[in-house]
Amino acid sequence: MDFQPLYDVVHASRDARLKYTPPRLSLADRDALIQRWHPDYREAAYRPIAFGPNAGDRTVRELAALLEGDSSIAGDLPLSPAHVVDVLVVGGGGAGCAAALHAHGQGANVLLATKLRLADSNSVMAQGGMQIAVAPDDSPVQHFLDTLKGGHMKNDHRLLKTMVEEGPSVAQWLLELGVLFDRNADGGLHVKKGGGSTRERLLTCSDYTGLEIMRVLKDEVLNRKIPLLEFSAAVELLSDEQGACAGAVLLDLDNKRHIVAAAKTVILATGGIGRLHIQGFPTSNHYGATGDGLALAYRIGVPLVQIDTFQYHPSGGVYPEQLVGQLVTEGIRSEGGHLVNAKGERFVNELDTRDVVASSIIRECEEGRGVRTATGRVGVWLDTPLLEVAQGAGTLDKHFPAMVRQYARYGVDIRTDPVLIYPTLHYQNGGAKIDVNGETPVRNLFAAGETSGGLHGRNRLMGNSLLDLMVFGKRSGMTAAARAAAIPQGMLTLNHLRRFREDAGKHGVTDRVVSPLVLPAYAGQP
Ligand code: FUM
Repeated sequence: MDFQPLYDVVHASRDARLKYTPPRLSLADRDALIQRWHPDYREAAYRPIAFGPNAGDRTVRELAALLEGDSSIAGDLPLSPAHVVDVLVVGGGGAGCAAALHAHGQGANVLLATKLRLADSNSVMAQGGMQIAVAPDDSPVQHFLDTLKGGHMKNDHRLLKTMVEEGPSVAQWLLELGVLFDRNADGGLHVKKGGGSTRERLLTCSDYTGLEIMRVLKDEVLNRKIPLLEFSAAVELLSDEQGACAGAVLLDLDNKRHIVAAAKTVILATGGIGRLHIQGFPTSNHYGATGDGLALAYRIGVPLVQIDTFQYHPSGGVYPEQLVGQLVTEGIRSEGGHLVNAKGERFVNELDTRDVVASSIIRECEEGRGVRTATGRVGVWLDTPLLEVAQGAGTLDKHFPAMVRQYARYGVDIRTDPVLIYPTLHYQNGGAKIDVNGETPVRNLFAAGETSGGLHGRNRLMGNSLLDLMVFGKRSGMTAAARAAAIPQGMLTLNHLRRFREDAGKHGVTDRVVSPLVLPAYAGQP
């Protein structure tokens, strides 16, 4: 498809656009916009959950089916453990590595099990940065207020207070481990502003922030020789006679055999749900993001919170086809990149919160001001060349090398041509209910990172996820280690699974999917 005439509209409108910045919307206008256009408000996409801890609550159909799904484990599986540990960490992304490192640091006997390779996760793909209040004009209080506003005041205050207050110590920890955050000419930490934030608060490693953090955490896990099982997916939890968590059944994906791990405490850090492709959306998420931890937690009795709200990141790729749904970092808008419709107009303040920006893009496309590709996809432009014009040649190479390379691979030069984008499924705002130490209401079961819920309210701010992973990875790791030191190993049973199956039967729920999925539906059988 020849985009040149469409690119010309973007180039020709640039000078006029630079003279006008769309205002931030009033609270009433934001709410009206979101309720009209945001995918969270598409009634037909939702249904009540039939049974279990959230019986009667509405969520998207794909997640409801996952939660009501049946285990792949037979009730009479022999439960002789191949591993007996203090702390079992399930998941090898940011939260899992942080949890394992901190639990290990407390002297616990830790096993880290991950269904793909260590660090294969959404964390490693994080581009835009990590919000921490380190700038002189900033404070954890300001961070708290921005996050609360972004989350529509629905954030769990205790979780949020904990996260923002521990931010600076997390930055210190990562720096000591060797993370190379971007610096100013004077050597101080460089900070950028993200959407919905009133201060410059994002610590970055160009647009490779997650990769850099995970490079260091992964090295640390390996250097400390923390026992690791790769290609080992948790497919069921184990409960003791009192209903507390006592370990997990893992599926060795290479050899298709079950491994029973007895653990005094278990930390679920399995990440997001993007690969369920809710409402048919493409996703920015990692291949393994199938919400396994949610299904496991639900079956053993953990209530989930705010599972009716998801984040559709405003800028997912639309063209070329190989990059559909892939993230185009919000950092480009933070640096001044305009969103432009087919008529060459700006239509939203690019630094408004993600739900507002995504809703505005969907509105532009639905009302016929989007750009359609030869394959029938639709999107609006992100004016990337503007950064080269406004800040000088080389700006994109310096600040967004990953993005320049990613598009160059398919013949698109984002330094000269704008990028076509549309919202992509990015994050589950809710998840397993936890306390400030990451513990769920099921004793000895913890959840950290995207598996957990409540912290971000109904809309997460950019860069708060990486901080969430580190803070609650650490707290859950340390608390789980301390708990393990004080309790004996519980008996291993599948009692919760029997009860869950009975409950499904009582509610007449048949035709259940096998959950967790482990791999996306299109991958075939794990
Ligand atoms: O746009 C981004 O770089 C995404 C960041 C985030 O979700 O925190």
